[in-house]
Amino acid sequence: MVAVDKTDYPTVRRMNFGFDAQPPTNRYFADGSMVFSHMIALLSAIFPPGEEIFIRSVSRYKDLLTDPELAKRVAGFIGQEKTHGRQHRELNEQLAAMGYPTAYFEYLLESTERMEKFLDKQFPSPHRMVKLRRFFLGFTVAAEHFTAVWAENILKSPQIQAMMYDPEIKNLLNWHALEELEHKSVAFDVYRAIGVPEKTRLRWMTFAANFGIPILVAFTWLSIATTDRAGRRQPVRILTETVQMLRNPMWKGFYSDMKPFTNPGFHPDQIDTTALMRRWQKELFGDEGQLRTHRK
Ligand SMILES: [Fe+2]
Ligand SMILES: [Fe+2]
Repeated sequence: MVAVDKTDYPTVRRMNFGFDAQPPTNRYFADGSMVFSHMIALLSAIFPPGEEIFIRSVSRYKDLLTDPELAKRVAGFIGQEKTHGRQHRELNEQLAAMGYPTAYFEYLLESTERMEKFLDKQFPSPHRMVKLRRFFLGFTVAAEHFTAVWAENILKSPQIQAMMYDPEIKNLLNWHALEELEHKSVAFDVYRAIGVPEKTRLRWMTFAANFGIPILVAFTWLSIATTDRAGRRQPVRILTETVQMLRNPMWKGFYSDMKPFTNPGFHPDQIDTTALMRRWQKELFGDEGQLRTHRK
């Protein structure tokens, strides 16, 4: 296994991207592609409620963690995911003003919140509703692998960097991707510390690997069909851009990137992203970092 410094806690950076002052002007801000832009808007819409699910899933076990280092990393993980949600919500408001159905997608994924909060209140003990708690933690661990792979692809591909036309959306996605790498093993280490059986995370990965991209594509098409008049008139363009998008470096090889997760004894740190992470920490937040002035 790659030696990773476990006292390198995820850094919580409070950011200000200024979407209010300067909203994105180009509707198709991702490579001029209607499909890719709707897909990025969809991802941005589902991040805040999705990240809240991750936070609740991990927080349920906070009191059971005996390792103080892991408890500190969990605090960093929660802080980072909270700030991601806050910044994406600001962007989502701008995307909604541009005609993207971000509010609808956010609402859909928020549907678990009420039920989860009711259960947490009714059964606060971590020893109750064990299967349901594990179900959500398994989902979080699989989703965190999904986002770590996606983050690695974004940060290592000059082609993806060139596709992001809007500078502030690019800054937001690069910052988010960097922090996904910084905390990629936290939920997994909680999962291990609690002793959840391997089969829970493996079932979630089977689901994500088989249905993740088809679901995202289906909702991207729904987004276009319901809100984009120009898109409804250009079905051939939609199909062509969908194929192009699935071949771009953000998704290309995605299924094979998911595979290591299914190995017995897998740990996220076996995929060494330390050099990539250090490079972007310097590029964004070093002495000459591009996002130094974006920090609050
Ligand atoms: Fe995040
Ligand atoms: Fe994350």
